[in-house]
Amino acid sequence: MLEIKNLKVIFNENTVNEKIALDSINLTINDGDFITVIGSNGAGKSTLLNSIAGSIEVYEGSIINNGKDITYMKEHRRARFIGRLFQDPLKGTAPHMTIEENLGLAYSRGKSIRFGFGVRKKDHKLFKQACEQLGLGLENRLKSEVGLLSGGQRQALTLLMATLKTPELLLLDEHTAALDPKTSRQILEITKNIVEKDKITTLMITHNIQNAMEYGNKTLVMAGGSIIKVLEGDERKGMTIQDIMKLYAATDEMLSDRSLLS
Ligand SMILES: Nc1ncnc2c1ncn2[C@@H]1O[C@H](COP(=O)(O)OP(=O)(O)O)[C@@H](O)[C@H]1O
Ligand SMILES: [Mg+2]
Repeated sequence: MLEIKNLKVIFNENTVNEKIALDSINLTINDGDFITVIGSNGAGKSTLLNSIAGSIEVYEGSIINNGKDITYMKEHRRARFIGRLFQDPLKGTAPHMTIEENLGLAYSRGKSIRFGFGVRKKDHKLFKQACEQLGLGLENRLKSEVGLLSGGQRQALTLLMATLKTPELLLLDEHTAALDPKTSRQILEITKNIVEKDKITTLMITHNIQNAMEYGNKTLVMAGGSIIKVLEGDERKGMTIQDIMKLYAATDEMLSDRSLLS
C-alpha cells in the first residue's frame, strides 16, 4: 500500500516563475490497484509520478510505501521496487545492446553486474519465455540490437524490463502516447495482461479518456495540481466521456475564477 499525505510540490520557489504543481494531494493506493490518471496539460500528473519515483523534490507532505517513509529516499534506491515507463520509447533501453542483454541488465537490477559472461542459459530461457508472452515475435530476436526495434516493440520490451522482477509499484507516464493508435492499443493490452497476471500495483497516466475508463479499477481526474475526482465502482462504470469533459470544463471555469481572484 502506498499512502500519499498532504503532498505539495513547488517549482522555482520564491521566483516570478513560482509554480505550485501539486497542492495537498492525499491518495491511498491499495495493493493490486490499477489506477488510471487523466487531466489536461499541466494538471500535475507527471509531477505526481515524479514525486513518487523520487525524481523531484517534495516541498511538503509524505509518501509512505508499505509503512516506510520514502519521501526523501533517493531515486535510484526507489528504482529497486518501482518500475517506470515514459512516453519516449528510446528511454529505458540501451540501443546498442541486444534484447537479451537489456533484459539481463534489468534482471540484475540492484545486484552487481557480471559483464563479459554473457547471458546465462537459465536466464536465456526465462527471457525467451517472457518475450513469448508479448506475442510480438521478440523471442526469435533475442540477439538483435534493441535500436533496430520499432517504437511499439521497444515499449513492450521496456515494459518487460520494468516487470521482469515484479515491482511493488509500476508508474506509466503516457507510455503509449508516441505510438500509432493500433500499436498503442496493442501495448495497452500487453500492459493489462502483465499487470493482471502479476497483480502489479499500477498508476497509468493517459491523455485518452476512453482508455482511462476502460483499463484499471480506478481513475483519478487531476486539474490545477489537485485530484478533483476519484472514480471507482458504479460511478466509474456509469461515466461517459461527455461526463468527464463536463468535469474538465467545470474545473477550468473554477480555476480561472480562482486565478482572477488571486
Ligand atoms: N521541472 C519543472 N520546473 C518548473 N515547472 C515545472 C517542472 N515540471 C513541471 N512543471 C510545471 O508544473 C505543472 C505541472 O506539470 P506536469 O506535472 O508535467 O503536468 P502534466 O503531466 O499533467 O501535463 C505545469 O505547470 C508545469 O509547467
Ligand atoms: Mg505529463
